[in-house]
Amino acid sequence: MFKDTRVLMPDQENRTDKNRQGARQVEVEIGFGDGDYLIRRASECPERMFIGIEKKTSLVTKVSKKAVSLNLSNIRILRSCAKDAFSDHFTTGSVSRVYALFPDPWPKKKHIKYRLFSSPYLRLLNNRLLFGSEAIIVTDSEAYHQWILKQTPGTGFEVENDTIPPQFDTKFERKWVEQEFRSFFRIILRKIEHIDT
Ligand SMILES: C[S@@+](CC[C@H](N)C(=O)[O-])C[C@H]1O[C@@H](n2cnc3c(N)ncnc32)[C@H](O)[C@@H]1O
Repeated sequence: MFKDTRVLMPDQENRTDKNRQGARQVEVEIGFGDGDYLIRRASECPERMFIGIEKKTSLVTKVSKKAVSLNLSNIRILRSCAKDAFSDHFTTGSVSRVYALFPDPWPKKKHIKYRLFSSPYLRLLNNRLLFGSEAIIVTDSEAYHQWILKQTPGTGFEVENDTIPPQFDTKFERKWVEQEFRSFFRIILRKIEHIDT
């Protein structure tokens, strides 16, 4: 179950039907930025619950307002570092899909320590995901892509690795397309073994 104690509620409805919410599939977007994909997914799949995690307050405010204006009752916004969010707000086996589109690649050697998808973090994501479900990471950075692949052994995931054309229509995807990027690196991590944390 998702522990939503510190989640901003985009709408002000009183939701007390916890059993119904618990049965819903939960999708989580890490670093949603301007929220284009999060908002679109939530609009397309009203039967699912969407939780967006973003560390920048201005973006949290902007996307929360947008969700309210569109009357989307299936979005929760979490202002948090994604590292803390999964340990603090989610329980084991509570998430059906996680995705991160164009996560910060931290290209400088001295900043590699800030990269999100390290082996310990992938193990945490594994723990929070349901068996058979997926974490999807799409990046423009070949170096980050290669680095993430090296993090995957021992994390309980089967790894699928390919390149894909632009298809998410997010701010960063549009930015790279303007700079003539025609494909991006995608890693799909499918949970095949449960990791205890
Ligand atoms: C390169 S932008 C991509 C934004 C969006 N996904 C897109 O495709 O336009 C990365 C986003 O992740 C957020 N971010 C970076 N590190 C984060 C972290 N540790 N926890 C939560 N959000 C993070 C940044 O604030 C930024 O909005």
